[in-house]
Amino acid sequence: MKGIILAGGNGTRLLPCTKVTNKHLLPVYDKPMIYYPLNVLIGAGIKDVMIVSGKGHAGHFLELLRSGEEFGARISYGVQEEAGGIAQALSLCEDFADNDKIMVILGDNIFSDIKVIKKAVQDFEEKDKGATIFLKKVPDLKRFGVAEVKNGKIIDMIEKPKKVKPNFLAQTGLYLYDNQVWGFIKMVSPSWRKELEITDVNNLYLKTRTLSYRILKGFWSDAGTFDSLLRSSAWAAKQKK
Ligand code: DAU
Repeated sequence: MKGIILAGGNGTRLLPCTKVTNKHLLPVYDKPMIYYPLNVLIGAGIKDVMIVSGKGHAGHFLELLRSGEEFGARISYGVQEEAGGIAQALSLCEDFADNDKIMVILGDNIFSDIKVIKKAVQDFEEKDKGATIFLKKVPDLKRFGVAEVKNGKIIDMIEKPKKVKPNFLAQTGLYLYDNQVWGFIKMVSPSWRKELEITDVNNLYLKTRTLSYRILKGFWSDAGTFDSLLRSSAWAAKQKK
């Protein structure tokens, strides 16, 4: 299985901190943000990693992480020319994946459940087909993509729902895919925010009845707004003490 970290996008919600640097290089307590998703991949046993960043600061990622040797990984790099969405950034990794199964993680997502994720990755690698997504109960569902779950099954995936229902769970920025993902990405069209949405790709897996999920119980946050960055830093500080 190969690992992919998506670290493109504009980081506009963290301006002016992202005016001259990339969001994923900002500190979450005592480490650059990108270290956290990288540690999740490595903790899940994945050594071959591709990082996709935006065009402005690609060299900074290379300087920071280099070959990956220091982390026990082999890192390749890709550049997303425009912030065309998560699925568009992922499409740049098709050759790297070389038909292997992939684990995709968003560069601004912070997870504590590394053991649970490792087990899910092992199961997916050995026997599962399709896609596995990771859901989490959160109070602020409108900020995320969500899964509507009924009788233990996902019945719909919605990006940034206007109205929420009690059976919605947030879709975290962690996805396991088989090689159908490349065909599905080619089938989606830009959304109202002019992005190729990962939620639309997951809806295609849902339609073919190959979308499974796990629920995470530990800490999870994105770190892409000032409040969530603060929450993530506070969590990371607590782990150290
Ligand atoms: O954090 C989880 C959420 O992330 C999911 O619940 C949503 O379904 C998913 O769409 C995403 O929502 P956001 O609107 O918060 O995504 P954002 O635009 O902040 O991008 C998250 C990361 O994805 C970002 O840190 C880097 C990567 N990205 C994003 C875009 C738009 C790219 O690599 N390229 C891009 O063009």
